[in-house]
Amino acid sequence: MNAVEIEEAISALAERPFEADEFPYAFLEAFGNKETTLKRLRKGESNKSDLGGVLQTNNIHIAVCKPGEVTRTLAALRASPATARAKARFVLATDGDLFEAEDLSTDDAPVSCTYADFPNHFGFFLPLAGITTVKQVRESSFDIRATSRLNRLYVELLKDNPAWGTAQRRHDMNHFMARLIFCFFAEDTEIFNGSGAFTSVIEAMSAKDSFNTHKVISELFRAMNTKTTERAAAGVPRWADGFPYVNGGLFSGSTDVPRFSRIARSYLLHIGSLDWKKINPDIFGSMIQAVADDDERGALGMHYTSVPNILKVLNPLFLDDLRQQLEEADDNARMLLNLRKRMSKIRVFDPACGSGNFLVIAYKEMRAIEAEINRRRDEADRRTEIPLTNFRGIELRDFPAEIARLALIIAEYQCDVTYRGQKEALRDFLPLDAQNWITCDNALRLDWISVCPPTGTGVKHHADDLFHTPLDQPQIDFENEGGETYICGNPPYKGNADQSKDQKDDIRRCFSGIDVNWKSFDYICGWFWRASNYSKITKAKFAFVSTNSICQGQNIFYFWKPLLADGLKIEFAIRSFRWRNLATENATVTVVVVGCSREDGACFLFDNDIKQEVPQINPYLVPGDNVFVERSSRPMSSLPQMTKGNYYGLSDGLLLDEGGRVNLLERGLPPAYIRTFKGGAELVKGVQRWCLWFPQPCLPADAADIPEIALRIEAVRESRLASPDAAAIKMAERPHQFREMNDCTKWSIAIPNVSSESRPYLPVTLENRDVIFPNTAFAIYDGELFCLAIAASKLHLVWTVTVCGKLETRIRYSNTLGWNTLPVPALTQKNKADLTRCAEDILLAREAHFPATIADLYAPESMPEDLRAAHERNDEVLERIYIGRRFKNDTERLEKLFELYTKMAATPNKVTKARKVATA
Ligand SMILES: C[S@@+](CC[C@H](N)C(=O)[O-])C[C@H]1O[C@@H](n2cnc3c(N)ncnc32)[C@H](O)[C@@H]1O
Repeated sequence: MNAVEIEEAISALAERPFEADEFPYAFLEAFGNKETTLKRLRKGESNKSDLGGVLQTNNIHIAVCKPGEVTRTLAALRASPATARAKARFVLATDGDLFEAEDLSTDDAPVSCTYADFPNHFGFFLPLAGITTVKQVRESSFDIRATSRLNRLYVELLKDNPAWGTAQRRHDMNHFMARLIFCFFAEDTEIFNGSGAFTSVIEAMSAKDSFNTHKVISELFRAMNTKTTERAAAGVPRWADGFPYVNGGLFSGSTDVPRFSRIARSYLLHIGSLDWKKINPDIFGSMIQAVADDDERGALGMHYTSVPNILKVLNPLFLDDLRQQLEEADDNARMLLNLRKRMSKIRVFDPACGSGNFLVIAYKEMRAIEAEINRRRDEADRRTEIPLTNFRGIELRDFPAEIARLALIIAEYQCDVTYRGQKEALRDFLPLDAQNWITCDNALRLDWISVCPPTGTGVKHHADDLFHTPLDQPQIDFENEGGETYICGNPPYKGNADQSKDQKDDIRRCFSGIDVNWKSFDYICGWFWRASNYSKITKAKFAFVSTNSICQGQNIFYFWKPLLADGLKIEFAIRSFRWRNLATENATVTVVVVGCSREDGACFLFDNDIKQEVPQINPYLVPGDNVFVERSSRPMSSLPQMTKGNYYGLSDGLLLDEGGRVNLLERGLPPAYIRTFKGGAELVKGVQRWCLWFPQPCLPADAADIPEIALRIEAVRESRLASPDAAAIKMAERPHQFREMNDCTKWSIAIPNVSSESRPYLPVTLENRDVIFPNTAFAIYDGELFCLAIAASKLHLVWTVTVCGKLETRIRYSNTLGWNTLPVPALTQKNKADLTRCAEDILLAREAHFPATIADLYAPESMPEDLRAAHERNDEVLERIYIGRRFKNDTERLEKLFELYTKMAATPNKVTKARKVATA
């Protein structure tokens, strides 16, 4: 069950008449407990309570008590030896009137409320459903409840008004929902002169059978769109006249309202009864946007970006700088004033803003700084000088764009209440500003200068579509009157294979005319590209959360080279971290934050919250020069050649499963012609396969005489002849062989071509003389064992991930990038001997767990201790060869590797040279 489903279940429970005996089970059921679990509890089999209640091990001890005994019962539950023995996390007591509960694992305040109100605290109990909550989820209880209710209303309205769900009317539907949310908020915050005014007028004026609900709401909306002086002439009914003039675009245009069924009306009244003061615009928007998205509705209330993650972008981009200026200003009135003026001209622009969470957080943080300035200047109730219109966004989808605007309006009001008091907040709030700076459109096709000209700037040329009306941007008559612009956000990431035709077209348009291989680019590259172009004119800094793939692999060369050559620099970066929602089901992706500017000055690299100042950050997000690692056909260090396995396309007849192998042996095929065949899956998962292996130029007679062999070889020949590829047709001349016939004489060291990113090391194996490798693996034929130590090291893994890149989330290994470019210092005989011993220890540790496969052995959660220790020793020995000690972290590893790579690549006569890019 997800949080929204749980909320619905416990709300339904609270609405039912209280049944003392049934309550504990109904409560547990609402949190997803299965009927069988409840049955065992009821029978007493698994109920460990010593107080006549219900005690579920590791979870909760619940007791229903006599009226007035709730607090005493909760104390008894807390002190109960059974609670401790069963390691119950929660205790809960209720008499059906009062409800008290405590989380024994935290210092958080206990819950104490009326029974009817306990659903408002459902976030407190989410761990009961295995939902790992962080404080913020608990604090989002209201937002989840409101999301769930609005969702029900939305779905119900669409049922009754199918036309409103069509493309033509979706906007009307979304706009209607945004108006409703505003009204719910306004009626609970005095904006509508009295608590619950909106809901109670609808309840009073609309018939119970709901036939005129839409008309009543429409009249209310009309009133909010009519100035008070014009109402009499407009014929606004008396009962709607008490509502203020709101407009600001929110209530202009059609006041058409969908028709309400009885159920929809009752949902609406129910939503109105929630306490909308508690709405949190930071996250509410991201939660609610799923309501209008048929695909996302299943995960309602679960997908939103946490505030700490948003601050990972905003703080280094500009908020830290503002805070530092505040600190330096101390109580100096002039310096404080300058900072306030500076902030009033700052534009924050999110060109993929969703429901505006980055903008809302930026706004709230800036208001907090401004409030502190005003406090120090003894101007505490001064009106804000930070205009909401300085927070701009582009969003493709209609509903999030509506909600983004609303979230900003709510944030403004809440900040005014916090910093200036309710009275002042109310005085300035209405009517809303009519300008709407959240543009609903495709950011990769819009002219960003038109959407977000820097403050105080006149831009003569406007265009809706850069591509239909090409602009020579540097020609725009542009004056920046001192305002700064910061571009931020979390634009969509989509690998090339996942992009729609339109998205591919967006990317093509972005990069048309530029000599780069854009076809392999992730969709997010479009945002970096557009932001970079925008920053050329405006000097804007920008930072995006991005898939880490844009800082890995070969794209670095094609994507980053032109950007960096054009005067852009990476000013700060957060190396890979898990981007997760706070709720469960968190589809975690590994992301980076990349901040860019065109200004000189220090650069900062963040690794696990450690901030490091560095002279330069390269596009691999490593301190150092802008070096681009390119494929090398031979090892650049003194390492033996690593070869891709034998290409086995159009060779099906040469491959054998167990049955085929036994059959051919029974028919007299000499065993020497059958070899073990190990590609990626066979190496890692222990799958068994074989192949026919005839190194002789012609098929030997003792094989050719066996009819099954002849049939197989003929099938291979025919498949090759049928290919449109000339090289394949040529291969038909020797159908008994693979395209390559590489083999070892003693043994091979092998690496699969793809490997799970969660493994702590690359799965490198030592294979005996018998094994043949297809092109899903790489092999060092007859490689000395010290090579296995190097290939299985952390250094090699880190280098590989960085320079080879990924296939979806898996590491895509490449010999020409991962091995041939790996910088390894010259190794002495002693170094090699030490590394050989380390490799032997790794192999022995694996052997000790026979028959565990490589996949078993390197599962991150269950890697055997002795194997882990053998790898640690290996890393220790190898890293000492590099710097005389262990590296502190991956950043330090990469820094050293890039330093060595730069030197190695610059050495004459090397196969490949690093390309240094001139940066301005
Ligand atoms: C990863 S979400 C981030 C939204 C929000 N900042 C958050 O954290 O929830 C990316 C947003 O970009 C929007 N988007 C996708 N393609 C777009 C385009 N071409 N132009 C503008 N917005 C787009 C999506 O609708 C989505 O709301």
